[in-house]
Amino acid sequence: MKPFPKNFLWGAATSNVQAEGGYLEDGKSLNVYDTLEVQPEIGTEPVASDTSVASDHYHRYKEDIALMKEMGFKANRFSIVWSRTHPGGDDGVVNEKGMAYYEDMIDTMKAAGIEPVVSLVHFDMPDSLYRKYNGFYDRRVVDFYADHVADIAKRFAGKVKYWITYNEINLATWGHLVAGADRPEGVSEAAFHERITHHTLLAHAKAVLAIRAADPEAKIGGMEAYSPIYPATCAPEDIFAADFTQKVKQYLCYDIMTTGDYPAYYKTLLKEEGVTSELPAEDIEVMKEAAKELDYLALSYYSSGAAKGPATKADIAFRKGAGFANPYLQANEWGWKIDPQGLRVALNQLTDRYHKPLFIVENGIGLDDQLVDGKIIDDARIAYHKAHIEAMGQAIQEDGVDLMGYLAWSPFDFLSSHKEVRKRYGFVYVNRTKDDLKDLARIPKKSFYWYKNVIESDGTKL
Ligand code: BG6
Repeated sequence: MKPFPKNFLWGAATSNVQAEGGYLEDGKSLNVYDTLEVQPEIGTEPVASDTSVASDHYHRYKEDIALMKEMGFKANRFSIVWSRTHPGGDDGVVNEKGMAYYEDMIDTMKAAGIEPVVSLVHFDMPDSLYRKYNGFYDRRVVDFYADHVADIAKRFAGKVKYWITYNEINLATWGHLVAGADRPEGVSEAAFHERITHHTLLAHAKAVLAIRAADPEAKIGGMEAYSPIYPATCAPEDIFAADFTQKVKQYLCYDIMTTGDYPAYYKTLLKEEGVTSELPAEDIEVMKEAAKELDYLALSYYSSGAAKGPATKADIAFRKGAGFANPYLQANEWGWKIDPQGLRVALNQLTDRYHKPLFIVENGIGLDDQLVDGKIIDDARIAYHKAHIEAMGQAIQEDGVDLMGYLAWSPFDFLSSHKEVRKRYGFVYVNRTKDDLKDLARIPKKSFYWYKNVIESDGTKL
């Protein structure tokens, strides 16, 4: 593989709610991840641990950043936890200890030569906003969020260059964890979908403008969980199912972010489902203004998807979907399919549609790593990253994709979105199990040394 561009942002990404612990320390309040009642992933045992300690990143971040430095990271993505900086959520009160904590984290990264990439709203809405308002279902929460972002942006303007407004915004319609909202009784799936889409994309737009107002030089990105959707076969109904799934689940939020309005396929779908509410003109104005200020599109990529027809548009968008298990791909223990080629497809699709710089801000594999004689030999993780880095190298070098960087999921182990310890993603092992905190020691895995070498060689030694 030829060397990657010199300014390519190699590194990794963390979700702080999943890593920090210290969950009621220094004024933090509980958030929707802390209180989430976890349904185990299909086919696995109930495994959720509590979030009170997680990986103890709250107390060990300096050690964790030192290990990132040792790997040669150019950038590290992390999230500023809303319930730590604004524990009340709706009262405008800033928790100075929370702000100071992130300020020191940013300063420590910069001193280590690591560019901080800050994410906002990553499963961290104060739980009180969920209980009192039903999260982003309520319009008022959009402004609470915008105020939170404005405070953060003002505080860290000039220190932080790269921003991500909302983690995996296209999953917000799933509700609780991502948007702090449940579908109220009597509200149709389509109406709930529209309301959450509108409010979260408006929140994104307000965040873009707040960051831009604080720092004209900032680089601001909108983020989705992205999977290209393949048709199960070339039967027309499968092609239709894949195409519509792709539009409504993958393109929709990027379409709105880049234009400031709903695309025709979504407007039509809503009308067909009896949702006729018009977007308020002042919201469209804000969203259009924000679209002009958007610098890049960020994505997490874990796997591709596949779709099989026949399926109606409403089923695809709001109900059971048209999902199909691709028989050509291997999966990890949790059933997540492994498809490096899909990453190249994804980068090409997004480039062709949006013509904007792209930034991979999550990519990795969950594995039940075993500590044997003090070592973790995680060859499957190395194979996963190697294949995905090759695919993105082809996208840059052979297809002309403008890619800013690659942030692997994750620098060190922390809890999965299902609060699972056993599903590990890190280059560094954290010595704990679900019930036994042990010593929480940090132990570099084999992949740590491999990734260090990849970065050192500008991606030529895979
Ligand atoms: C992404 C999230 O959806 O996937 C992360 O942004 C999450 O927070 C990651 O950890 C991997 O998913 P999981 O469920 O294995 O943790």
